[in-house]
Amino acid sequence: MRVVSGIQPTGNLHLGNYLGAIRNWVKMQDEMDKGSECLFFLADLHAISQPHDPAELRQGTLEMTAALVACGIDPDRSILFNQAQIPAHTEMQWLLNSTARMGWLNRMTQWKDKAGKNREGASVALFTYPVLQAADVLLYQATHVPVGEDQKQHLELARDIAQKFNTDFASEDEPLFTLPEPFIPPMAARIMSLRDGMAKMSKSDPSERSRINLSDDADTVLAKVKKAKTDPEALPSETAGLAGRPEALNLVTIYAALKDCSVDDVLADFGGQGFGAFKPALAELMVETLKPITQRFSQLMEDREALDAILARGGAKGRELAAPTLAATYDALGLIRG
Ligand code: TYM
Repeated sequence: MRVVSGIQPTGNLHLGNYLGAIRNWVKMQDEMDKGSECLFFLADLHAISQPHDPAELRQGTLEMTAALVACGIDPDRSILFNQAQIPAHTEMQWLLNSTARMGWLNRMTQWKDKAGKNREGASVALFTYPVLQAADVLLYQATHVPVGEDQKQHLELARDIAQKFNTDFASEDEPLFTLPEPFIPPMAARIMSLRDGMAKMSKSDPSERSRINLSDDADTVLAKVKKAKTDPEALPSETAGLAGRPEALNLVTIYAALKDCSVDDVLADFGGQGFGAFKPALAELMVETLKPITQRFSQLMEDREALDAILARGGAKGRELAAPTLAATYDALGLIRG
């Protein structure tokens, strides 16, 4: 089993990232058998597909590294690095660009959303972003990729690229690439904004009040939850009663995910009560979860050298693991090296 996943080091780690992905990274790391490996990385190369400030990217990469370690990623058990440490990611992307089709990339919803009406002005990197993502996982022969719902389409594309490459340049008996399985949590796969139950919680939302950052202190969490959009009705006593109430459903889902119980369990406790009672309980639960993470994060941020060392060590291990598949890909394409 080989687990591979990444996160962009832009903005703060928020509750959507944590419940949708990072918590599962930690679970998978903790349940790893001998001989299996977990690779987790900061997708800094993906981050340059949109306008960015180099100093902020540098700082963001270190902060996200500290945040991941604070959440429980152990650099002694998992391989933790930033993509830029491993040139094989960009090399593999170029090799896979010849297999990926324009039509496939044109259908990507993230491309459509992020480029918006200004496709002509978008970077080429934003368009070929999903090919780099395919390279990220295929390079390591990933079997499982823990992600939130929004990354599902990109992983389907990675499978399509792998399949076409295997058909065109390898044989059915000896495929070059493993087809990666997305691992999407049954609950919390899509945590929504606190301001709009129909929009996903996101780093790029201009409103800070739309998300809970893992670095938020108790007062900030309380204030954000208090101001979270809701409706005037009391909570129902069964899940069906949340239909057509996206904000209520989102808050109850967050509570259930934090408590590791079902939405029905939460409603069994809070059914019939209003948000005046539910919101403080939710905020308290968030603060309880975040407190140890924030404390550890602050400690880790005090030692920049230690963070650099974690990334350098992960980079060296990753380069080693990437080498055989990269060499086999060059070879399969008829490219002579060395
Ligand atoms: P990114 O940085 O946007 O998000 C990191 C992870 O968090 C999940 N996520 C969410 N889950 C639930 N609810 C939300 N509101 C929410 N927002 C974000 C994402 O699904 C993701 O799992 N392209 C990727 C990074 C990437 C990658 C990869 C992932 C690059 N290469 C290879 C997996 C494999 C991204 O921008 O994620």
